[in-house]
Amino acid sequence: MESRAKALGHPLHPILIVFPLGLLAASVLFDGAYLVSDTREFTIVSFWAIVGGLLGGIVAAVPGWIDWFAIPAGTRARRVGLVHGLGNVGVLLLFALSWLLRRNEPGYVPDTLALLVSGAGFLLAGLTGWLGGELVDRLGVGVDEHANLNAPNSLSGRPASDTQSVVGSVRKW
Ligand code: HEM
Repeated sequence: MESRAKALGHPLHPILIVFPLGLLAASVLFDGAYLVSDTREFTIVSFWAIVGGLLGGIVAAVPGWIDWFAIPAGTRARRVGLVHGLGNVGVLLLFALSWLLRRNEPGYVPDTLALLVSGAGFLLAGLTGWLGGELVDRLGVGVDEHANLNAPNSLSGRPASDTQSVVGSVRKW
């Protein structure tokens, strides 16, 4: 099922989710680095990584919802997409709470509750990320109709099924 929100021929959502996924996961790693080293700089990096992750998540959610609304009702993809989308809203809320809990602390040092809430967000993101993979790799959401190993370039304006101009010609890209 082809994505509705694309840039340069490719779905926007998988492009954008690297920011929230990477930054929020990095914040948990920096929290861990602080715990083992007691170095305050790590808590500051973690604090701002959460800010970037939350902003990136809000931006990435927009094409996610656009693609979800285009999934036909009554399908498994629609249900999985809903759990994935709402689960990721939950991920963002958990990290927002963790951020609120540390924002007034000297050096943004997280207390035990802030660490636990971030940890819960990290685990939930693992589950929702798996569901995202299920959506794309198993259910074909965001994949062009008739995608195949000889499909023409996404920028060519031709459908993926139009292999005539690729197979046996000099056009390689
Ligand atoms: C921070 C928020 C989010 C993250 C980190 C995230 C993560 C992901 C990941 C990892 C994939 C698989 C991408 C791939 O394998 O190429 C995916 C796909 C998908 N996600 Fe999300 N997601 C987020 C929010 C949302 C929301 C709010 C929705 C709305 C329902 C949504 C709907 C979808 C859909 C429909 C797909 C299938 C691929 C596509 O349409 O581009 N996602 N997401």
